[in-house]
Amino acid sequence: MNALRIRGGRRLMGEWTVQNAKNAVLPIMAAAILTEEKTVLEDCPTLSDISYMGDILRMLGCSVHMEGKRLQIDPQGLFGHEMPDELAKKIRSSIFLLGSILARFHKATVTLPGGCEIGLRPIDLHLSGLKQLGVRIHDEGGVIHCDGSAMKAGPVHFDYPSVGATENVMMAAALLKGETTLHNVAREPEIRDLQCFLNRMGADISGAGTHTIIIRGVRSLRGCVYRPMPDRIVAGTLLAAAAITGGSIKLYHTPTQDMYAMIAKFREMGCIITEKESSVALHAPERLTAFTQLQTQPFPGFPTDMQVQMSAIATLAKGTSVVVENVFENRFTHAGDFNRMGANVLINGRTAVIQGVDALYGAVVTARDLRGGAALAVAGLAAKGETIVENAQLVDRGYEAFEDSLNALGADVSRISIT
Ligand code: EPZ
Repeated sequence: MNALRIRGGRRLMGEWTVQNAKNAVLPIMAAAILTEEKTVLEDCPTLSDISYMGDILRMLGCSVHMEGKRLQIDPQGLFGHEMPDELAKKIRSSIFLLGSILARFHKATVTLPGGCEIGLRPIDLHLSGLKQLGVRIHDEGGVIHCDGSAMKAGPVHFDYPSVGATENVMMAAALLKGETTLHNVAREPEIRDLQCFLNRMGADISGAGTHTIIIRGVRSLRGCVYRPMPDRIVAGTLLAAAAITGGSIKLYHTPTQDMYAMIAKFREMGCIITEKESSVALHAPERLTAFTQLQTQPFPGFPTDMQVQMSAIATLAKGTSVVVENVFENRFTHAGDFNRMGANVLINGRTAVIQGVDALYGAVVTARDLRGGAALAVAGLAAKGETIVENAQLVDRGYEAFEDSLNALGADVSRISIT
């Protein structure tokens, strides 16, 4: 197991260019098998989730390899419609392959991906969307058998705007003759990016970013070269790192138009933000002011993937902050670690009440998911003394060379191995 060792108390200053988005690349990798032709994803970040997804594609017969920052996917050898069980459990995003395998083979077998630290992560909305397209589904002890022989275009309604379910059904319908209309879809920017990628492949999809997506099925799709969008959560995490240390940083290659909920929160806490189309600069006050309330919501509301980082910086803000986690049922698992560092966090169900303290103190803490691990590191940057974040390999799922980005901004973070 490896860990991050953080020596706190240094202001973050300087500039950094943000990586491209894990949550755009993963569904795009699933969409790449909708054709037999090669796809190249340019400027792809080196992340363990992406390499796991590559392993799954290889087990389905594709060839996948990274050359520098170019991820090359050749689905010509694709033979399998059965998702390998051991890998499906390793990465939840394998469920995105359900829609594209059905589109290719009109049948698919996947195992229930199972939950994770932040919640049960059911896939009922994915399955409901596919059933509305005529897919016949039966569950045999956690193995989902899908028969898509009678799939047809038509209306689909989601009871909740699920990101993954929206993406899955977009891919399942891309090659379905006729018009499929998806209602009450998720509006996350990564869905807009998936639509852009699919249309680059020759699909005819519109509406991503709104409540309704229209898919006019095409006969076939082609390979393409594509650069995924920048990562708004990595950008927000670095802004939080600067904010808690009283720093001043400028980020380049930011999807600024997709960051307004976060930017408003940083401003509410007393940060001066200068935003341009693809850059964001943050100048933090000596001490942050508590935000009155932060409610996580589907996009364009405040992103759940930034909740724990904002909770981290609220621990030192002047005043009391209230955080309500509306998206996942168990996303306060790091509160105990913050309190071990001297914070004053009270949890009641989906609500956290965070009374700002004057100081945090370094401690040995444990990452339980990738955003929580990053948030613990953010807290460690402002803590007196040394913080060790164990299980740091979880952070590598979504953050490329996380310690390099922090050190480039003046932090003192090193990677250590713990036996
Ligand atoms: C995507 O997960 C992201 N992952 C998550 O990022 C992100 O937190 C989430 O969207 C919300 O923005 C990827 O894109 C790979 P959902 P996803 O379906 O698709 C419930 C990170 O840290 N739900 O919108 O799984 C679900 O349990 C990760 O990068 C059902 O009940 O999110 C959750 O409570 C974490 N039934 C809520 O909906 C379903 O069939 C939102 O889930 C599907 C979801």
